[in-house]
Amino acid sequence: MKKLSILLIVLMALGLLIGITGCGGGEAEENGEEEALVIDAAADAVFAPFEFKGESGEVEGFDADLIRAIGEAEGIETTIKHIDWDGLFPALESGDINVIISGMTITEERKAEYDFSDPYFEATQIICVREDSDIDSLDDLVGKSVGVQQNTTGHFAVQKIEGMKDEDIKKFPYTPDALMNLSNGLVEAVVGDAPVVLNYIATNPDCGFKTIESDEFEKEYYGICVKKGNTELLERINSGLKKIQEDGTYDEIYKKYFGE
Ligand code: ARG
Repeated sequence: MKKLSILLIVLMALGLLIGITGCGGGEAEENGEEEALVIDAAADAVFAPFEFKGESGEVEGFDADLIRAIGEAEGIETTIKHIDWDGLFPALESGDINVIISGMTITEERKAEYDFSDPYFEATQIICVREDSDIDSLDDLVGKSVGVQQNTTGHFAVQKIEGMKDEDIKKFPYTPDALMNLSNGLVEAVVGDAPVVLNYIATNPDCGFKTIESDEFEKEYYGICVKKGNTELLERINSGLKKIQEDGTYDEIYKKYFGE
């Protein structure tokens, strides 16, 4: 009986101690002694309307507005800068940035190495050709030179086409590069994210392109990417995303870039 009460006292003291140190941590955070959580994001800002460089050189677009709104909703200081697509994962790994928001599709391969937020946008691939082209389906691309942005899901989708030769896949650093080379005839078709291809056509009405949809392209979902195991940040991002989806901010941003 005595032993039991001693044990109880010890346990209570322990609980108190844990409670105190727990509070202490919070105080330190309030005093700014602990490093405050920030969002240092990057995007490959050659991917309108999701990310592009504005007149001041700042990254603008759907993704930029979205991550800034998420930061605001969570009270987290947020910045976003440009990094080339192939440099995004290395920058995340080196700690130069802690968030990628770049029209990035959540894929099984990427999920094995990085963590993603809840999906925030649904997209798919689309084929883009010159108006006079007789290419009409995915299979028609076999034997033609096809432009893609390298290491994107468009690139991977073209690689998966049966009979497609790698030498026929022309890899460009930016999606608009691939489309410019469709104009000058270097490639016969481009496969890229539909919202970006359609935005390019809308903003370049004289480009003389048409698009072809295909059921064979899978549905893709964009996610915000963080380093594997960075659950503290990921939870805040998901919480912020949920808040702006519920309070109408997401819809406002959507309307700004895609209309009704
Ligand atoms: N959604 C595609 C992917 O994840 C293309 C994204 C390219 N984004 C960009 N900002 N260039 O592979």
